[in-house]
Amino acid sequence: MNPIPGYTHGTPSVSRSPVSLTDFEQMKASVLFGEEDVKFLRMSHDIVKGRVEAILDVWYGFVGSQPHLLASFSGKTDGKPLGDYLAPVRKRFGQWILDTSNARYDQAWLDYQHEIGLRHHRVKKNKTDGAPSTDVVPFRNLFALIFPVTFTLRPFLAEQGHSAEDVEKMYAAWVKSCLLQVTLWAHPYVKDGDF
Ligand code: HEM
Repeated sequence: MNPIPGYTHGTPSVSRSPVSLTDFEQMKASVLFGEEDVKFLRMSHDIVKGRVEAILDVWYGFVGSQPHLLASFSGKTDGKPLGDYLAPVRKRFGQWILDTSNARYDQAWLDYQHEIGLRHHRVKKNKTDGAPSTDVVPFRNLFALIFPVTFTLRPFLAEQGHSAEDVEKMYAAWVKSCLLQVTLWAHPYVKDGDF
């Protein structure tokens, strides 16, 4: 079965997203996401698939260097980083890099987006790994992280000899995809009826 603990994409344990595929089509139009972005995300897949661990080193290094971010991965009472929490989440984060670049944004993917949102929110944070950590990833950090995540990915997109134009297009597609995903993850944080 699935080798990544807690990665439940495409399984019956993931509930239906409250956001419909029709709503999602409109969100895509709002951020100017189209077939060309799918093409460039998949181009990036060939690059990132061999570099997942190196990319995660950069992203985890960034989170680990900022105490207010590391707090979300630390003990609720003693504030100490939880290795048993960081490690399994890192594995799922690695799979997320592959899923984002694969760009098969169908119903199963949409449903798992909602699951990821719940896992950052107090509804499901800590539950997957049984972690004794803080109750919620504050929304103010969630959204802001889109910039460092995509900006630090850029050098990886450029390291395998693609043209400057292709690198720019892959980068833009990643920014748009992250904007779409974190907007979907915002659902549990937004007041009923306001999403
Ligand atoms: C979990 C991505 C922002 C803290 C995850 C997972 C992914 C992810 C892919 C694993 C989902 C799964 O279980 O399959 C991202 C991205 C972000 C972002 C792309 C911004 C663009 C943040 C921020 C924090 C944070 C700002 C706070 C420092 C966490 C925590 C978990 C998690 C604590 C584990 C949640 C749980 O208990 O299941 N994130 N994240 N994330 N992320 Fe984020």
